[in-house]
Amino acid sequence: MKDIVFSEEEIQGACKRIGAALTHRLKDDEKTPVFLGVMKGAMNFRMDLTKRVEIPINVDYIQLSSYSGTTTAGNVKVLKDFTTDIKGRSVVIVEDVIDSGYSMHYLIEHLKEHYQPKRVILCALFDKIVTRKVDVKIDYSGKILNSDKFLVGYGLDYNEFERNIPYVYNATPEDVKYWDSLIEKNNK
Ligand code: IMP
Ligand code: MG
Repeated sequence: MKDIVFSEEEIQGACKRIGAALTHRLKDDEKTPVFLGVMKGAMNFRMDLTKRVEIPINVDYIQLSSYSGTTTAGNVKVLKDFTTDIKGRSVVIVEDVIDSGYSMHYLIEHLKEHYQPKRVILCALFDKIVTRKVDVKIDYSGKILNSDKFLVGYGLDYNEFERNIPYVYNATPEDVKYWDSLIEKNNK
């Protein structure tokens, strides 16, 4: 039995709630808001969330340097950049999980410094409050977590595994051993 953290139904419930709040908050914007999904972890969340937004929007993606395995480092870089002109527009960052906070701290400063957005709003499916290293203002979160367990599923991965699972669960050491064995086979 999997230790499920967020079921398919709960995920859809969070998307509905946050989508409705964003619809209300952004409906009077003069320029079209841009939803910026953070690759690859937030792919599913970005898609399901924007289905619940009932005003015209644009979508784009950015990919940040990711950590290898289950550890986090404070050194963030842009691996693939977005192409939409966001000047004077609301940008809604859609992220899978805020852990240390380094990635989103970096991204928000980076956007504000270089692109002059009207405002930056941060949505995260999970807010891991116990592992925060740097302060980040999260405008909307799907679920607040009091544990630092490693999550997989619904976009979240362990070395690229489990992004395709429709719900989110806590990975066990046995799971990790199994995926490591698959990686070893792929590398042969
Ligand atoms: P932060 O910069 O430490 O806040 O890390 C955020 C990034 O680390 C997220 O975008 C995820 O890609 C990754 N991450 C953090 N915790 C987890 C987890 O429990 N499972 C999968 N990825 C995670
Ligand atoms: Mg991520």
